[in-house]
Amino acid sequence: MKMLQNFLSILVFFLYCLAVQGSNQHERKTYIVYMGELTVATAYAPEDHHHNLLATAIGDQQLARESKIHSYGKSFNGFAARLLPHEAEKLLEEGNVVSVFPNTHNKLHTTRSWNFLGLPLKKHRHSRVEKHMIVGLFDTGISLDSPSFNDSGYGPPPPSWKGKCVTGANFTGCNNKVIGAKFFNLQNSPEPNLSPADDQGHGTHTSSTAAGVPVRDASLEGIGGGTARGGVARARIAMYKVCWGRSGCSDMDLLAAFDEAIADGVNVISVSLGGTPRKFFSDPVAIGAFHAMKRGIITSCSAGNSGPATMTVENVAPWILTVAASNTDRLFTTVVDLGDGHKVEGMSINTFTPERKMYPLINGALASNVTEDGYGNASACDHGSLSKEKVMGKIVYCLGAGSKDYIIKELNGAGTIISASYPLDYSTTTVIPAVYVYSNTAGKTIDLYINSTKDAQAVIQKVKSTRGPAPFVASFSSRGPQSISTNILKPDLTAPGVDILAGYSKLATLSGDPEDNRRNVFNILSGTSMACPHAAGATAYVKSFHPHWSPAAIKSALMTTATPMRIKDITAELGSGSGQINPVKALDPGLLYNISIDSYIAFLCKEGYNSSSIGIITGTKGFDCSDIDPAQGTDGINYPSMHTQIIPNGSISAIFYRSVTNVGLGNSTYKAKVTSPKGLSIKVIPDTLTFSGVNQELSFKVMLKGPPVPKESNLLSASLEWNDSQHNVRSPIVVYKRTL
Ligand SMILES: *[C@@H]1O[C@H](CO)[C@@H](O)[C@H](O)[C@H]1NC(C)=O
Ligand SMILES: *[C@@H]1O[C@H](CO)[C@@H](O)[C@H](O)[C@H]1NC(C)=O
Ligand SMILES: *[C@@H]1O[C@H](CO)[C@@H](O)[C@H](O)[C@H]1NC(C)=O
Ligand SMILES: *[C@@H]1O[C@H](CO)[C@@H](O)[C@H](O)[C@H]1NC(C)=O
Ligand SMILES: *[C@@H]1O[C@H](CO)[C@@H](O)[C@H](O)[C@H]1NC(C)=O
Ligand SMILES: *[C@@H]1O[C@H](CO)[C@@H](O)[C@H](O)[C@H]1NC(C)=O
Ligand SMILES: *[C@@H]1O[C@H](CO)[C@@H](O)[C@H](O)[C@H]1NC(C)=O
Ligand SMILES: *[C@@H]1O[C@H](CO)[C@@H](O)[C@H](O)[C@H]1NC(C)=O
Ligand SMILES: *[C@@H]1O[C@H](CO)[C@@H](O)[C@H](O)[C@H]1NC(C)=O
Ligand SMILES: *[C@@H]1O[C@H](CO)[C@@H](O)[C@H](O)[C@H]1NC(C)=O
Repeated sequence: MKMLQNFLSILVFFLYCLAVQGSNQHERKTYIVYMGELTVATAYAPEDHHHNLLATAIGDQQLARESKIHSYGKSFNGFAARLLPHEAEKLLEEGNVVSVFPNTHNKLHTTRSWNFLGLPLKKHRHSRVEKHMIVGLFDTGISLDSPSFNDSGYGPPPPSWKGKCVTGANFTGCNNKVIGAKFFNLQNSPEPNLSPADDQGHGTHTSSTAAGVPVRDASLEGIGGGTARGGVARARIAMYKVCWGRSGCSDMDLLAAFDEAIADGVNVISVSLGGTPRKFFSDPVAIGAFHAMKRGIITSCSAGNSGPATMTVENVAPWILTVAASNTDRLFTTVVDLGDGHKVEGMSINTFTPERKMYPLINGALASNVTEDGYGNASACDHGSLSKEKVMGKIVYCLGAGSKDYIIKELNGAGTIISASYPLDYSTTTVIPAVYVYSNTAGKTIDLYINSTKDAQAVIQKVKSTRGPAPFVASFSSRGPQSISTNILKPDLTAPGVDILAGYSKLATLSGDPEDNRRNVFNILSGTSMACPHAAGATAYVKSFHPHWSPAAIKSALMTTATPMRIKDITAELGSGSGQINPVKALDPGLLYNISIDSYIAFLCKEGYNSSSIGIITGTKGFDCSDIDPAQGTDGINYPSMHTQIIPNGSISAIFYRSVTNVGLGNSTYKAKVTSPKGLSIKVIPDTLTFSGVNQELSFKVMLKGPPVPKESNLLSASLEWNDSQHNVRSPIVVYKRTL
């Protein structure tokens, strides 16, 4: 009887819950309520505070408890909850709340590269310090099967380390190289490996790029052989899995990773993912990186893969190091032998070795499924447009870029040649023998050959590693100008992100296609995702020599010593920022553009944030934007590059106030050297800086003047270099004319 009663009351409660959910809960959306810096008061309990705020906004204790998903409170304050729009609005009115924003989903920005950068293995290193450096990566997890994470010779984690290693599906534990691993799946997405295991390969790749140990004779099926290793080969790795195969990388998981990584004691954070740029304090990466910066941790982020279009750059806050992708001098080319003796070249990571024979060659138009009228474009080999009989066993020539290899594989084709209307500058791993060619050159030859004969034949050879011109910015790398702080140039610099050989996970297939059966502990990938960990590694490398430099100082050192990129197209500096990273040169930059927390506060005031918001964000009480020295000049921040945007018919007028800290020789005199195009006058006042000691800081200003920029151009590129004959401290100066 008692049991039945219990059962009934549970049933009633269950039905009640269903009713509540039915009426209300399903309309709720997930929001993040950001509440700035943690309160120092010892009695402060974030969870209770969050619950009280929620209960007030929702008007029901029980519902408030059910709606809360997660409380942040280790490194900053805030929580995630399921809310109705009016509840979100109500919370925004609360005194302690900076912002309330919907939880969105971000995307991943999918050996030799370090030697190319002038940081060979034998280079002078601070091993003793380097092995105390911890690089935290927010990614798809990690696979310890990769030899890049062999911990032989490593002692226990540095004493400062407070993180831990979570085990689970396909993840048995960490070692003394990978000292931490956690996963975040706050939305409870049904995923196959609820553990730090990497079932996409991406996180293993970025981790080994940032800090993998050297692995001799690393290669992908014999391709690209050489030593694969990370930038700071002796540093430790901590993985924070926030990206999932099904649900992507959610804002609330990203914030949870920042909350924990900062508290765990990582020294550098590498984030190879992003979403649409948002206002800084409604953007999880900007929020997390801000609190990391306050604690001396630099965050390196990928710029995005939406180039070459302008205004596509992501992760643009000034306290983030925004990294674009450039190439190395290595190129992967795949040769096609045609039946008439011609050889043409294209790009792809084609791991397949062909048989010693020719295969019938056909184009999409000739292989079209004529019975199916009007469905798809057969010349482009669209899905459903081709006939299985005509494709089987043949190599198919297809027009237009895109992954046609999957389609031809499905129809049992022997291979495909994809003719792209623009020259490709990176290679992708294909699921069957395949190659991308440029339609104007190789494509034309193949096209003519197919039309010239009844029995065209070809064979696609296995990919070869060759040398090519470098560095240039990859076509896919996102370009500026940015839309959030329009006078700060982004991306900041470039690092190798094209055809990078690094560790990979055997839980993923080489092409990412589940039906592909090739698995390997190495893979070749391209993307700003691959550039970002190179920069994170470089950051850790500089920090191992200069442990007390601020994040802004390290970033300045990397930017002012970068190698300016060859200007190939109109979007030059909008794609490359200060240029390609040079980690060794960054150890001795001469001068630093440093930024204190007070200057960030002045900058935020100038950007329109009010005193109360900034007070909560920074945890600095009792100041008023109108009391503090207003940030001066066009950008209001001591940034290592200078940028202004003008309206179409507007004349150029900008002023940049800067100060530099001497970290070179005690007594030194720097002279300003300006390079500027016609139509842009640049004055540096004073144009000589005389330092009498190390750590001395001197100020100057840079004034830009000029008539409206002529119709035919929208970008003026200039530069300022401070030179003491030992150091050359370079800043790009970029004027961009908006289209409206
Ligand atoms: C790790 O490295 C050590 C020393 O180089 C080597 O002896 C050992 O076989 C390696 N372990 C694995 C699993 O590769
Ligand atoms: C481990 O990964 C494999 C391949 O992705 C998967 O089939 C298997 O279910 C996973 N194991 C566990 C315990 O989840
Ligand atoms: C081609 O068209 C026929 C008739 O519409 C259809 O049955 C077949 O599935 C189509 N596709 C292929 C790949 O042959
Ligand atoms: C088919 O696709 C190709 C390549 O994208 C394009 O050049 C061609 O015009 C398309 N044909 C039709 C009929 O749409
Ligand atoms: C070859 O033939 C295809 C149709 O099969 C046609 O679209 C193309 O223009 C021809 N190419 C040349 C170079 O004549
Ligand atoms: C830069 O500024 C920070 C914060 O004000 C300060 O701690 C640091 O010593 C300064 N200098 C360098 C080289 O980082
Ligand atoms: C400061 O800005 C926030 C967010 O824009 C706003 O909600 C708040 O009312 C403002 N406070 C004051 C004192 O103006
Ligand atoms: C800019 O100036 C030109 C010529 O003086 C004029 O035709 C054009 O409308 C102006 N554009 C804007 C946006 O003011
Ligand atoms: C710098 O110059 C001053 C005066 O010329 C001299 O007294 C001092 O020793 C010099 N310091 C260094 C570090 O060279
Ligand atoms: C500036 O300094 C570098 C040393 O870093 C030197 O090689 C160069 O000639 C100097 N002068 C100019 C104008 O770049």
